[in-house]
Amino acid sequence: MPDHDREYDIVLWGATGFTGRLVADYLADRYGASDLDWALAGRSRERLAAVRDEVAAGERGGDAGRDDGDRDAADRDDGLADLPLLVGDAFDRGSLDAIAERAAVVCTTVGPYATYGTELVAACVAHGTDYCDLSGEVHWMRQTIDEHHERARETGARIVHGCGFDSVPSDIGTLLLQTHAEETLGSPCEEVRGLVSIRGGAFSGGTIASMVELYETADEDREVRRILADPRPLDPPESRDAPADRPQRWVGYDRDLDTWTAPFVMAQINEPVVSRSNALLEHPWGHAFRYGEALATGDGVGGAVRAGALALGQGLLAGALSIGPLRRALDRYVFPDPGDGPDEETIEDSSFAVRLRGTGASDDHPGGFAVEATVRGDRDPGYGSTCRMLGESAVCLARGDVESPYDGGVLTPASGIGLPLIDRLEGTGVAFDVETVERGD
Ligand SMILES: NC(=O)c1ccc[n+]([C@@H]2O[C@H](COP(=O)([O-])OP(=O)(O)OC[C@H]3O[C@@H](n4cnc5c(N)ncnc54)[C@H](OP(=O)(O)O)[C@@H]3O)[C@@H](O)[C@H]2O)c1
Repeated sequence: MPDHDREYDIVLWGATGFTGRLVADYLADRYGASDLDWALAGRSRERLAAVRDEVAAGERGGDAGRDDGDRDAADRDDGLADLPLLVGDAFDRGSLDAIAERAAVVCTTVGPYATYGTELVAACVAHGTDYCDLSGEVHWMRQTIDEHHERARETGARIVHGCGFDSVPSDIGTLLLQTHAEETLGSPCEEVRGLVSIRGGAFSGGTIASMVELYETADEDREVRRILADPRPLDPPESRDAPADRPQRWVGYDRDLDTWTAPFVMAQINEPVVSRSNALLEHPWGHAFRYGEALATGDGVGGAVRAGALALGQGLLAGALSIGPLRRALDRYVFPDPGDGPDEETIEDSSFAVRLRGTGASDDHPGGFAVEATVRGDRDPGYGSTCRMLGESAVCLARGDVESPYDGGVLTPASGIGLPLIDRLEGTGVAFDVETVERGD
């Protein structure tokens, strides 16, 4: 049931983009037009109408929102053909105000967010409208926190960044693991390590554009470089100086999980997000809590070689992106254009698993304990699973299906939505598990 008196539960802003179309298809498949009042929004009525036609006809296979995977186009809700279309522009504040005041939640895939997202956040904060996005742009998240956190608390706008593959598995997975440790072992873990495995997958033009934008800004702005070098850039000032590790930069070996590891590019985002969650929840996991993540590449010689190749490849790419002319040439001639992305087969045939291992000790278990949580997705993480995570984040917010100490603020998935997101994702193909694996008495 809706938890608001707005005209729409959700307005999907950016419905014409690569990821926006996937989110539209997901919501159409799972909720149709009768279980949710929602609208498509973007800058071109014509392109929005084309997306609406596609979604109503179930042209994308029609099974984005279910794990039985075979709902055909004929099952699509007739009302989808009449989904409302709202037109605006990311730089036209008046048009964004008009959207924000009619929506309980604005769910946005218009990125790079540092380029296109600032006015929308301001409009949502002004109108007390909840908001969720796919931003992994730490410098911009820092900016929205500084500019809007306090005001959003007053207006009751929950602004939740990072509701896709970055950072839902890391952030909600850690919340699940810590809740389990506190409830069953008497204490949270002092440290959590996440190991990510991805099979297949590819990047869209919008994701690459966000990465290129980040390097451009860092080139020009010393403050952005400082934020990117800070291990806790999203924490409130009082906890920003707590000891923290920088993301892994080279090959490692994880003895507990028996695998070689390589740097994981999203760790730069996920580690600060998990740290902000702990801070916003008032440090239930302690001030010295550490979260770190890496890519798992397997054991033996094969695992070591893969870890070395991945570390080297990422180092070379980061080096190339740091050189302005080379970056611009790659962007122009090599990278996919905005609007493009992996084909349906690649999305379908890919999958991911994030294995989180936490360790700690308590009065009942002085010899130490270990807890493991796993988050799995049966499709490509950045798109096939991200559209489910973002769509369900928006539904949680619209229905007030959240466990959060905040009515408003610039929040993280764990502090702004919490464990209800796991229940909402059940049956979609994104699954969370947790268990105690060591219990030292
Ligand atoms: N965190 C994650 O896990 C994750 C996963 C996937 C994507 N992402 C992020 O999501 C964002 C979108 O990626 P994408 O590949 O879907 O991008 P995309 O295909 O390029 O889509 C961008 C969208 O922005 C719209 N847009 C551009 N300029 C606009 C303006 N002035 N006013 C209003 N709308 C405007 C485009 O509209 P038109 O169609 O009219 O051009 C399009 O709908 C990126 O920032 C990416 O990094 C994150």
